[in-house]
Amino acid sequence: MAAPLRIGGPALAALLPDIRTLPGPVYAALARALTALVLDGRVAIETRLPSERDLATALRVSRATVTSAYDQLRADGFLDSRIGSGSFVTVPAGSTPNNVVARWTTRAPAPGDVIDLSCATLPAPPSVIEPAVAAAAGRLPSHLLGDGYDPAGLPALREAVAARFAGRGIPTRADQVLVTNGALHGVDLLLRLVIGPGDRVVTELPSYPGALDAVRAHGGRIVPVPMHPHGGWQVDQLQATLRQTSARLAYLTPDHHNPTGALVGDDDRRTVLRAARRTGTTVVVDESFVDLGFAGSATPAAAIDPGVVTIGSLSKPVWGGLRIGWLRASADLVARLAALRTSIDMCGAVLDQLVATEILADLDAVAAARRADLLPRRDALLAAVTAELPDWRVDVVPQGGLSMWAQLPAPLSTPLALLAGQAGVVLVPGSRFGVDGTLERFVRLPFAQPADRLHEAVRRIAGVWQQLAAGAGTDGVDLASRRLVVA
Ligand SMILES: Cc1ncc(COP(=O)(O)O)c(C=O)c1O
Repeated sequence: MAAPLRIGGPALAALLPDIRTLPGPVYAALARALTALVLDGRVAIETRLPSERDLATALRVSRATVTSAYDQLRADGFLDSRIGSGSFVTVPAGSTPNNVVARWTTRAPAPGDVIDLSCATLPAPPSVIEPAVAAAAGRLPSHLLGDGYDPAGLPALREAVAARFAGRGIPTRADQVLVTNGALHGVDLLLRLVIGPGDRVVTELPSYPGALDAVRAHGGRIVPVPMHPHGGWQVDQLQATLRQTSARLAYLTPDHHNPTGALVGDDDRRTVLRAARRTGTTVVVDESFVDLGFAGSATPAAAIDPGVVTIGSLSKPVWGGLRIGWLRASADLVARLAALRTSIDMCGAVLDQLVATEILADLDAVAAARRADLLPRRDALLAAVTAELPDWRVDVVPQGGLSMWAQLPAPLSTPLALLAGQAGVVLVPGSRFGVDGTLERFVRLPFAQPADRLHEAVRRIAGVWQQLAAGAGTDGVDLASRRLVVA
């Protein structure tokens, strides 16, 4: 049997927010914060928690406080204590645990009138997918004569993606393109190939949780560099971090950063890419949101440094359900990734790639329509936050993408998310976008929904925020009645 996962007192304490600043009794705040770590996937199911004494020492609270918090977790179904063995993280009976990198989130128990702000993603645009599927079906018969296995992707789609890069000033041949099942698949494949256990990977802070999880899953050590509070990179810090850590990889999203929506300017790109070249760090630029910019665009990173690995996807400008993305790199790296893929998922589906090839021909028009829809939604969300939550701040007005990053006047993002769920709004706490238990002062607000729904969501959030800010209410969170699903 595998040795149980365990976490020590200091390591667990490092993941927790300052529980003394949270409202209500300290033991209840500790129980809620521990629950949030489990729900966030930051402490995996089956992990053995430290003894009450060790955690009390690490947190500098009384042992009785930890005992009461553990009692609460047990009562809520999040802790299973076995005499002589210790206390193990679990989830309430009836939940559906699934994976190793336990990504848990709360969803409202019943559909009802729930506004889901947990995902920065859009439904499919009207009249785009169906005609593409029909045209693709017409092209399918000629492919049926072959074996259908093409680990690097269908030649026609690779050509179309390469032509798009070339059109943006990045000369690209088809053999420099790997077609993937979405952007995250590209990130994962690259991590598998390039990093080994303990290798450092520089990321922005905050950053896209899926990529952070992927780095962790491959044993990488994340070195987060905070974004500038008013948007974009903190170039000095990024340069210094690259220099000091000799990181193997840097995962960056300058073309509309998730979650802030910032666009990084040309000078900053040049400086950071030069620094990475000097330290031999492979830079991966995730361009998932590149087509969703409201204020123009910047020079693509790969046009500045052809050594940059670029990841793209149809998920954000078109539809996540297509599961089509790509990775642009040297032909040699693409060939190695394609070879690696044959032992993982072999290749993408031919029909899906034919559909994507059709859509790519019209991508500019589809993306323009998306931007025209999104800009007023961004403005509506900003206006609603200003009106309903006057003590919150949005210091970076998103220049693109699908979300904004709001700062709360207190580190209450996790209790806010828990209470918002009860008020019919699914929110992801800011800490999910970080690595060290910080970012509790922030919450990501996607503006992918129509303006009236965004306004309603903010109105509901403002209602629970008033309770929280008044120091009441969090003890009323009924964790036991929640169904948990995998995000
Ligand atoms: C920056 C970033 N990269 C990748 C993804 C996942 O994209 P895909 O659906 O293409 O795998 C997301 C989704 O939210 C994202 O925000």
